[in-house]
Amino acid sequence: MGMVLGVLGSGSGSNMQAILDAIEAGTLDARIALVLSDKPDAFILERAKRHGIETGVIDCRGFQTKFPEEAQAETAARLRDAGVELVCLAGFLRLVKSPLLDVFPQRILNIHPSLLPAFPGLESWKQALDAGASEAGCTVHFVDEGMDTGPIILQEAVPILPGDSAATLHARIQVLEHRLYPAAISQVSRGWKA
Ligand code: GAR
Repeated sequence: MGMVLGVLGSGSGSNMQAILDAIEAGTLDARIALVLSDKPDAFILERAKRHGIETGVIDCRGFQTKFPEEAQAETAARLRDAGVELVCLAGFLRLVKSPLLDVFPQRILNIHPSLLPAFPGLESWKQALDAGASEAGCTVHFVDEGMDTGPIILQEAVPILPGDSAATLHARIQVLEHRLYPAAISQVSRGWKA
């Protein structure tokens, strides 16, 4: 049986959709058991519901950017109750630390829209454009205590083209993300089950 996944996201959920598509296409042996968001109206929840996947909202106690400890503990408990083995951050915009990280050590992945260690943090594609970089890219990595610092699983570059806007560059990176994330999950799960 494939890996049981839990997905955390704050936005549109196109990466969660790509994971689902890979599962449905038979290229990724896994199952998404639970999708959680810190934003009650995030489209990722809608997408998950359409596929009959259990969803939930993470109560961040009114904090705009912080992921408070109580909320992390609740999230860890919900993921565990759902039988989740591997947690995938997919456009989740809060920093995961203790206690959630302690419950899933080496078992939380993140997708980040840059060639890490370049441009950690938010809107990395804009950071790359503003810095005049010649290429951008995307990275799937294990989450550790730092911000976008954990061991890299897969990484690939895309060119920055003349005339690129933040939107066109992000769209090019997202095409890459949708291929890379399922591949990285598959790689990690093969390593565990081997
Ligand atoms: C993705 O581009 C992802 O790399 C980025 O948010 C987007 C979410 O899109 N994540 C970060 O910037 C994390 N720092 P999605 O909701 O359509 O998957």
